[in-house]
Order: sequence, then C-alpha cells, then structure tokens
Amino acid sequence: MLLTDTDTVETHDRHDHEAETYDAMAEWILATWEDDDYLIAPGPIPFANREHVDYLTDAIDQIRPLAGRRILEVGAGGGTLAVWLAHEGAEVVGIDVSSGILDVARRRAELSGVGDACTFVHTPIEAFAAEAFASAGGGFDAIIGNNVVHHFDRDLAMARIATLLRPGAIAVFCEPMLFVPEPVRALRYSSMVARRFPPHTHTEDERSLNDGDLEVMAKHFRHVAWKPFQLSARLQNFVELSDAWWNRLEAFDRRFLAAVPVSRRTCRMAVITLGLPRDHTVPGTQHSDPINHQQERST
Ligand SMILES: C[S@@+](CC[C@H](N)C(=O)[O-])C[C@H]1O[C@@H](n2cnc3c(N)ncnc32)[C@H](O)[C@@H]1O
Repeated sequence: MLLTDTDTVETHDRHDHEAETYDAMAEWILATWEDDDYLIAPGPIPFANREHVDYLTDAIDQIRPLAGRRILEVGAGGGTLAVWLAHEGAEVVGIDVSSGILDVARRRAELSGVGDACTFVHTPIEAFAAEAFASAGGGFDAIIGNNVVHHFDRDLAMARIATLLRPGAIAVFCEPMLFVPEPVRALRYSSMVARRFPPHTHTEDERSLNDGDLEVMAKHFRHVAWKPFQLSARLQNFVELSDAWWNRLEAFDRRFLAAVPVSRRTCRMAVITLGLPRDHTVPGTQHSDPINHQQERST
C-alpha cells in the first residue's frame, strides 16, 4: 500500500471528493451525449477552449516526438488529450481517480478508433503502481497532465511520478498559479470575495500552485522549470471576454511575460517541466523504489 497511515484519511477524503465530482459529470455526459459528441479526429489538437491553446501547445511540443512513444496522462478525465495523442501514434495510459469519467474516456477512444492504443486505469496518481510498469520497459517516455496537479496531494503525487519516468524522460503539467502570500490567498477564497467573484473550481480541494508546491517538486526532481502564461488575461476570471479581447490580452501577456521577468510571478497559468528524479523513498514503504534507483544510476 502506498499511502502511510497519517496520509490515508486526508488523502482518501480528497480522492472521494474528486471522484464524486467527476463521476457526477460523467453520469450526465453518458446520459446525454450522442456518439458524435465523443469523437476526436486526427489533426489539430482538440483544445477544450481558447484558454488552453497557448500553454497546452507548449506542453505537447516539449514531449514530441509522440509517435511510437509510451505516454502516461495523469488525470486523463474524459480522454480528449489521450485520444488525440493516440491518433498521433503514441501508446497512451490514462489514469484518473474517477471511474465514471474513465468510462467516458474509454467510449471516446473506442468511437474515435484508437481503443487499442489507449489503456485507462482507475487509480489516484498517489497510489499508481509503478511496479506494474517496471517489467514493461522501465517507465514512460513522457508524462503529461492538463490542469491536474492542483487537485493532487502534491508530495505523494510527485513521489509517484518520479518513479514512473524512464531515464532521461520528462513530465509536463499545465497548472493554474497564484504566487501571493497566504493571507492574500485566504482573502481570495474567503466567502466574501468568492461570493462576488467565484473561483473557477470544480472541487473543494483544488488550489492553485505556489512556491511551496514548486519546493515540493524540487524535493523529488532535480530539474524543475516553469514557463508563465496569461497575465492580464486573468481578467477572464471576473468578466466574460470576447474572443477578440482574449486574443489581444493573451498576445500582450506573451510579450510582457517574456520581456519583464519580474512579471512572471503574476501569471495565471504555467507549464511546469520536471525531470531527473531524485533518489528517494516512496512514502508508505520501508525502502527506495527500484525503478527510481535505476533512473538515478542512469542519469
Ligand atoms: C480539471 S480535470 C482535468 C481533466 C483533463 N486533464 C482535461 O484537461 O480535461 C481534473 C481531473 O483530475 C482527476 N483527478 C483528481 N485527483 C486525482 C488524483 N489524485 N489522481 C488521479 N486523477 C485525479 C479528476 O478526476 C479529473 O478528471
């Protein structure tokens, strides 16, 4: 068992909340969608919406080439990205804590014609069995997650992810960021402010990442880099922007974030790149993870 006694209660509660939310979403999808609604065609990346275009393109570019590679998608949700990666020739394993949403993902993969290239596993990342993959080639060629780490128990999840990469491989995550002191963060999520400007969240445990989370990542990886996206486009949280305004603001943000390094910490989203797992003991076990030892020796 991966989780320690002290981790178990809080982490299991978190998983229950997450699964409940996404199972309910899946129930609605499975009851209302027609077959055509599931289809993902080969070709352009199927972005969920305009907000994902810039950062998801960047994240995918970092793990190219895709064809013939073994890719893990963490928090795969309804399988849109997993299916597209399979169309690009990747062999994809998608995991998620919600069994319902994985039913949507499986249906999508089958109907889109890539059922054989996608495997969906119902498990929280914190308990995903690295051992099962040791015999199948010593880890994944790449790991990707879109808007997921901010739902996880960071320490347990990073410890797991560090054991799942083959030597030299990287993990990339697209995540919301909020680099503000704790009191400001608390104010943002206070009922007074949240009532007027509801945060864009689905579950009670999700929380934008900050310096503390980057430190947790650095505990498990020797390479931690993040690239900022969206700054003035954060206005979208408070008012509905037209496409023209969104494009204008995002283009401005791209230039500004590149030209003024100090502005990086005001970004709304980041693509986080992790590599070179550190040698560490997997929480809940008495010994270091064998796959990770192998990686340490080879890097
Ligand atoms: C915001 S959704 C993103 C889904 C998908 N990546 C996308 O872009 O559409 C977050 C997903 O993470 C999953 N999730 C939350 N906690 C998880 C955990 N501990 N392990 C694995 N998946 C988890 C949720 O069930 C949900 O499907």
